[in-house]
Amino acid sequence: MNVDTLIERVLERSVAGAEGPGAPPMLGRAIRHSVFPGGARVRPKLCVAVAAACGEGRGIEAASGAGAALELMHCASLVHDDLPAFDGAAIRRGKPSVHAAYGEAIAVLAGDALIVMAFDTLLRECRASAQSLAPLMSILIDAVGTPRGIVAGQAWESEPVIDLSAYHQAKTGALFVAASMSGAAAVGLDPAPWRALGERLGEAYQVADDLRDVLLDEEELGKPAGQDASHLRPNAVQNFGVAGAIARLKGLISDASDSIPDCAGAPMLREIVNGQAARLMPQSLLRNVA
Ligand code: IPE
Ligand code: IPE
Ligand code: MG
Ligand code: MG
Repeated sequence: MNVDTLIERVLERSVAGAEGPGAPPMLGRAIRHSVFPGGARVRPKLCVAVAAACGEGRGIEAASGAGAALELMHCASLVHDDLPAFDGAAIRRGKPSVHAAYGEAIAVLAGDALIVMAFDTLLRECRASAQSLAPLMSILIDAVGTPRGIVAGQAWESEPVIDLSAYHQAKTGALFVAASMSGAAAVGLDPAPWRALGERLGEAYQVADDLRDVLLDEEELGKPAGQDASHLRPNAVQNFGVAGAIARLKGLISDASDSIPDCAGAPMLREIVNGQAARLMPQSLLRNVA
């Protein structure tokens, strides 16, 4: 089965569990709204791509389960991030954000339910790979909690002084690190050598997001533009300028590609990583730079 379909099916199984008899209907609808249709699904795809590169055909199901769990955490983080207490964003992925559609109380609970659902998904989908389960769980926990995970990343925004690199590493990098390391753990390998790939890709992704925030409009983004300036968030464009941020993005993609550990699928993975560079820097982005 095609990898994208595999990931969507795992997500569908998880979301369906929050619907149907006995479930509060509005919460179920809000959870579905936040997961489908998805965005780029870049984290689960990275997880499965790493497993395919180093697993010699093993562990694709476990990697899809772990990747889907990471995607659910990502969706939870977006639901909470859009709330008035954080960014107060009314649109996400080109449609109303969850709180705009269902109200703040349901959005808080939908995010909470998605976090629990992520752990449930990992447990359910990776049960057959018993030896991988504990490492996968610990990678997931590290990526989401504090001091290194998303929660810590979001918390930096409330501090009077922010270290840009620690902030970005925790807010965005942590889930990319988890995706890359989980791909290796899902096939029973030591995940540590795969940390660098996630770190570089995560940073590249955040720099690209900062550029998009400045250069694209709400329609192209599917979410509000100019957020970093309006919330006074430290960002790569402020630090390096547009041209400097683009140069940094290119450098990070090249570093990511160079950091891929030796394995049978390394050439294939390098192609995927370099392909991401083209996706992250669409022509529309470069057009606006001149
Ligand atoms: C948005 O992530 C938040 C950032 C960390 C930059 P994505 O750009 O991966 O969002 P979706 O899932 O594709 O919508
Ligand atoms: C969202 O960060 C990432 C997390 C919720 C961890 P941002 O606020 O920078 O991303 P967008 O622009 O809303 O997608
Ligand atoms: Mg935010
Ligand atoms: Mg935001």
